[in-house]
Amino acid sequence: MKICVLPGDGIGQEIVGQALRVLDKVGDKFGNTFETTEALIGGCAIDAEGVPLPADTVAKCKDSDAVLLGAVGGPKWDTIDPAIRPEKGLLGIRKELGLFVNLRPANLFKQLSDACYLRPDIVARGLDVIVVRELTGGIYFGEPRFDGVKDGERFGYNTMAYHEYEIRRIAKIAFEVARKRTGRVCSVDKANVLDVSRVWREIVIDEHKNYPDIALSHMYVDNAAMQLVRDPSQFDVIVTGNLFGDILSDEAAAITGSIGMLPSASLGESNPGLYEPIHGSAPDIAGQDKANPLATILSLSMMLRHSFDMDEQAECIDLAVEKTLEQGYRTGDIMQDGCKAVGCIGMTESVLANL
Ligand code: IPM
Ligand code: MG
Repeated sequence: MKICVLPGDGIGQEIVGQALRVLDKVGDKFGNTFETTEALIGGCAIDAEGVPLPADTVAKCKDSDAVLLGAVGGPKWDTIDPAIRPEKGLLGIRKELGLFVNLRPANLFKQLSDACYLRPDIVARGLDVIVVRELTGGIYFGEPRFDGVKDGERFGYNTMAYHEYEIRRIAKIAFEVARKRTGRVCSVDKANVLDVSRVWREIVIDEHKNYPDIALSHMYVDNAAMQLVRDPSQFDVIVTGNLFGDILSDEAAAITGSIGMLPSASLGESNPGLYEPIHGSAPDIAGQDKANPLATILSLSMMLRHSFDMDEQAECIDLAVEKTLEQGYRTGDIMQDGCKAVGCIGMTESVLANL
């Protein structure tokens, strides 16, 4: 199994470095060989090569079976030419690898329920949502786009556009994902205002004819943002476009109170898929052994499951993480009274011990 590793910026280096120790141990335990190669993306690539996504990085990713990414960006590159911002590296690799599906599970670890931002009676109803976000279309990539001057004033626009095939293939994935869960899909759009959303809704309804066992509902994005905090138990799978999915997945992750815990998978028609923690590069704590490595470690578990069909190995990682939480080990972001404070390395060591 060949894995291309893109640590990126900020805490990326630390969390990815620690996660790879877990991968090694899994390999030893189960007799699998994982071969890794590293490449640059984001700010570090800008510093070294002048672009956020060097051609060599794309080539190495395409030559791999899966990609593990840390995080990109930081204040150092905030004032750089927008055309080569670190984020462009991430958008570029998604497009290059055809990763149109973004799976973002947001669930509550029972050991961390005190960290949850919602009222206990709301949490008691359950919080286990997965956002299925369309990742290579919509307003992120739509043409035409413009950033300039018109009639003597600054002027800018982007285009939110979806082709039927793009909607159909993401809807299909959402229905398939729901089949392995509680069988409910909520499609989020803004069909009361946007033409593109009316097309979205029509195609989702049409594709649903192939999945009569799944319960499909629809919600406008503003209402969905509210319902997520009011009563997240009503959601199982949320399927939505690129921009709405970006916003709602941050919200879904944040209400669990542990954004440092949540992994994600970006998938296309075939490997390589790309796996990364949901959180960002956290430049304020970079290099201080404070970052929570669990989201990256759990991203590895998603990789083993989705790219390599290694369910048993994935389960082993998931259980080791749960046991570590059970034992009371906590990084700063999830610290609770009476728990044992550890850093990025310490947390990884206890996961390794539990493996
Ligand atoms: C995410 C991030 C990215 C996005 C940025 C860093 C380009 O917010 O993965 O959600 O907007 O997709
Ligand atoms: Mg985001």
